[in-house]
Amino acid sequence: MISLKPYNTFGVESFASELIRINNEEALLNLDLNARPGCKILGGGSNILLTGDIEETILKNEIKGIEIIADHQDYSDVKIGGGEVWHEVVLWALKNNLGGIENLSLIPGSAGAAPVQNIGAYGVELKDVLISLEGIFLLDKKKKTFANEDCKFSYRKSVFKTELKDKIFISSIVLRLTKIQQLHLKYGNITEELDKMNIANPGIQEVSEAVIRIRNSKLPDPKVIGNAGSFFKNSIVLKAQFSELKRMYPNIPGFHEEEAYIKIPTGWLIEQCGWKGKRIGDAGCHEKQALVLVNYGKAKGSDIIKLASDISESVLQKFNIVLTPEVNIW
Ligand code: EPU
Repeated sequence: MISLKPYNTFGVESFASELIRINNEEALLNLDLNARPGCKILGGGSNILLTGDIEETILKNEIKGIEIIADHQDYSDVKIGGGEVWHEVVLWALKNNLGGIENLSLIPGSAGAAPVQNIGAYGVELKDVLISLEGIFLLDKKKKTFANEDCKFSYRKSVFKTELKDKIFISSIVLRLTKIQQLHLKYGNITEELDKMNIANPGIQEVSEAVIRIRNSKLPDPKVIGNAGSFFKNSIVLKAQFSELKRMYPNIPGFHEEEAYIKIPTGWLIEQCGWKGKRIGDAGCHEKQALVLVNYGKAKGSDIIKLASDISESVLQKFNIVLTPEVNIW
């Protein structure tokens, strides 16, 4: 049995019967997958909560490599191995003066996992820059190129989290990164942070630094306190329900989502229910960002699940909103 504690940023203990590191496509193609039904795919382990031991084989994506595959006057298309660490990809882009992913600085996890949940932060989502990806079907080892639209991206969601969940091993992704300055500064307090840094004419490097400063100020470092970032998704409700809530809670924040929907920050809902900063044993709701659940040391997956369900119950009672986890529960 292999301990999975080093492989999940929640730092939860659990054991797997087999873990195979995949360093290149051939390694996967040569593997007897028929003898290993129901394989699970692991990236950086930064978006999972382990709730028990894993009987199935775990395939850890460690395919590396970053290369420019097409170079144009205004942009470059960059192919990235699924096992690359996401933030290393951001640093590579900054070093090569390529823009588009600076707002996604410091997001934990791997490049191959990035499209699965359509990672996003500070007004940018992976779907805005992803051209295509290559995946291998575990069932028959067939390779397929998925164009952006084939991925069926939406808020923290893709086809790889729904219909094709656990069916595709993402070996590489292709991003279109720009050489023309197109900064996204509208979300949250990026401009405020740039002001604090005394930067009047920011470039991608400065935006990345601002994002890193904001993230470090409110998100716990998984190396210090176990966590998987936002535990829940933000809540999307119909406009009519939002108006009703606004009458009862005039300060409730809400942002226009597509058509008839409003997105409410779930962190706000959880905070209003009094959970922010609460700790039950070693499981807690983070003191600076209520959307993040943490493991102070020895919490088990079941302790985190219990806390999450108590929080969900409070939010349902108070606001009549059903919370959806953002992390994958194994
Ligand atoms: N808020 C509170 N209390 C809290 C936390 C948030 O009232 O404890 C409210 C505030 O109104 C605040 C608003 O929520 O202005 C938004 O907060 P924040 O900017 O921290 O973002 P978020 O909506 O809580 C999302 C992502 C984060 C991402 C940030 C910034 C999801 C599930 N989470 O959080 O992503 O970093 O926006 O773009 O969409 C992650 O996915 O793991 C993650 C950390």
